Amino acid sequence: MKYRLLSGKEKLSSIGLGCMSMSHGYGVPNDEESIATLHYALDLGINFWDTADFYGNGKNEALVSGVLTTNRNKIFIATKFGFKQNPDGTVGFDGSPAYMKTAVEASLKRLKVEVIDLYYAHRIDPNVTVEDMVGAMAELVQQGKVRYLGLSEASANSIKRAHAVHPISALQSEYSVPEILPLCKELGITFVPFSPLARGLMTNTLNVSELPDNDFRKALPRYQQQYQENNQNLTRAFAQLAAEKGCSPAQLALAWLLAQGDNIVPIPGTKKRDKLKDNAGCVDVNLSEEDLRDIERVIAQYPNTGDRYNEANLKWVDKN
Ligand SMILES: NC(=O)c1ccc[n+]([C@@H]2O[C@H](COP(=O)([O-])OP(=O)(O)OC[C@H]3O[C@@H](n4cnc5c(N)ncnc54)[C@H](OP(=O)(O)O)[C@@H]3O)[C@@H](O)[C@H]2O)c1
Repeated sequence: MKYRLLSGKEKLSSIGLGCMSMSHGYGVPNDEESIATLHYALDLGINFWDTADFYGNGKNEALVSGVLTTNRNKIFIATKFGFKQNPDGTVGFDGSPAYMKTAVEASLKRLKVEVIDLYYAHRIDPNVTVEDMVGAMAELVQQGKVRYLGLSEASANSIKRAHAVHPISALQSEYSVPEILPLCKELGITFVPFSPLARGLMTNTLNVSELPDNDFRKALPRYQQQYQENNQNLTRAFAQLAAEKGCSPAQLALAWLLAQGDNIVPIPGTKKRDKLKDNAGCVDVNLSEEDLRDIERVIAQYPNTGDRYNEANLKWVDKN
């Protein structure tokens, strides 16, 4: 494995491990294989693990804790607060200091650790000022419950306001907003692209027509029938390019992200060892300027990919 630095001193594996799909969103969980995958991540030197209290309504943090507690000093654990399941089954968001104080205690308890390495606000709550939210998060650092702070899907304006209250060490977002990357670089913030394989699409192995009804992707525009032809053409061409470069499509997608800056640490998600091994190989894929241009040319050729989020999810886009 190769490593990158967070806040100039914490050694994070160049790709992390997104743990969400082990308990949430994508198909049927298999705890046994997930635990084996977590152990395998340690063998591969992948130390940057990503979870959230919302994933599986706490189940994902509890699952991860099984390997985390006995290997505490080998893992840099990131979790998030804010999303919550309402009693009527809908999803709500609460970024208030009062809620955060209860959420962090619950995460510490489920993870069975004394301190969380990186604590993210999962979104920016339109009903709470960024200053109040980050001020309360900073108190957790002072109390020794949390080491570093992160934001997810925050706008440039929110990042600046948050950073003025307390240093923000990581921004976790989908890789899409051009102004955000230079800002992260300028402020020394690690950019953590989530869903870096476009939720499996870029691997050229995802058959959207075979997804079970409860798969989260079923509700997102990008995985609907109307975009299938464009996306199949895109992923086939991308896979062809990967074959020409002698790597897998997942490795090519991750290597492209890594090439965008040394402050970038993607967190591909998987619950399976063979996929984890494939992803880890991306750190040895070296891309030339010409390779990067080839990738961008293929992406530009098939622009009709469908939106990443539907109306309900867009409710949480930061408008600050
Ligand atoms: N902050 C946020 O709001 C937010 C939102 C979404 C995700 N995240 C984080 O980002 C992490 C990653 O995102 P994601 O899981 O949504 O999407 P992703 O990493 O883009 O893709 C995951 C999907 O790709 C498959 N896959 C992984 N590696 C593969 C390989 N080498 N070959 C073929 N298929 C492969 C996985 O299969 P299997 O399921 O079979 O392993 C899974 O279906 C999550 O685990 C979570 O921690 C954060």
